[in-house]
Amino acid sequence: MPDLPVTVDVHLPADWADEAMSVDIRRAFTQQPKQLPPMWLYDDRGSELFDAITRLPEYYPTEAERSILARRAPEIARITGADTVVELGSGTSDKTRTLLDGFADAGQLTDIVVLDVSEQTLRDAADMLAARYPGTEIRAVVGDFTRHLRHLPDTGTRLVAFLGGTIGNLYVEERRAFLGALADTLSSGEWVLLGVDLVKRIGRIVDAYHDDTGVTEEFIRNVVRVLNREMDADFDPDAFDYVPFWDAREERMDLRLRATMPMTARIERLDLDVELGANEEIRVEISTKFRPEKLSAELTEAGFGDLHWFSDHAGDFGLVLARRR
Ligand code: SAH
Ligand code: TRP
Repeated sequence: MPDLPVTVDVHLPADWADEAMSVDIRRAFTQQPKQLPPMWLYDDRGSELFDAITRLPEYYPTEAERSILARRAPEIARITGADTVVELGSGTSDKTRTLLDGFADAGQLTDIVVLDVSEQTLRDAADMLAARYPGTEIRAVVGDFTRHLRHLPDTGTRLVAFLGGTIGNLYVEERRAFLGALADTLSSGEWVLLGVDLVKRIGRIVDAYHDDTGVTEEFIRNVVRVLNREMDADFDPDAFDYVPFWDAREERMDLRLRATMPMTARIERLDLDVELGANEEIRVEISTKFRPEKLSAELTEAGFGDLHWFSDHAGDFGLVLARRR
């Protein structure tokens, strides 16, 4: 069968510095602690660094999730009966192949949709998918999954996969809004598959965000470079220490950059001067760890039912499948 062409829809401005994102950044520097929007981590370099993180021995989630997908993909295809697999925050779609193979082997895969902010990574992934699943229609959407779910194509019966624990990078309120928007986007009988890292021994979690090679630190620090480039700012990336810690109350990793000295930086595009005290911290990302009962309750409240939980042997990672009621 000849390959169908890949369709690419772009819903983000080329330079990222549009209204919405400028508003994000302005807000980021006027709250306590200062807090950056995590999607800014993923420019081309950020995506490459993240890909390196997934290969670190300390970073267990990727292999744990892959092992669950390898074992359960045929079952997930059978339970859902979906013919369209949509992936949000798809990155390289590397692990996703394991899920897609379950659908392709069952002969039920007609459409694949991938959505990510990182345009080049997305385009490469879409080409890879087109080569691997000939005869399947591939659509790539360059967009923000907190803003652009309404742009998702509506073909057949969809399963929306949100893997890699990315939902854990949203704050509680954002997570609620996201699940609500997802429920609004899906029709009754369509499905969602969430991959979430589970609460476990703290040392094991902390190690996953603090590797010896410094790749994780570089990934977090990269956000400063993105800010400098996209917002015409002049922060010194080397004037920050990487500070990852476990927030026991919220059950999440809190990943911050700490100013090693007092500094003033100029964000030209916002006409804003930012002052940082010595040791002042900027929160770059959180990574929430989940308890299945609690996430099940959130899914139910958002309008999903018929929940199926799957886990790896060690119980490190969870996949939850849920049906739009
Ligand atoms: N799903 C892959 C990648 C996870 S990393 C995996 O499981 O390994 C998170 C991915 O989400 C990155 O590819 C990043 O570019 C994308 N991303 C982060 N924030 C986003 C947002 N707001 N909207 C769309 N994509 C986003
Ligand atoms: N979503 C994944 C996680 O929370 C990947 C990730 C996001 C990540 N930000 C990170 C991994 C920062 C390491 C460091 O684990």
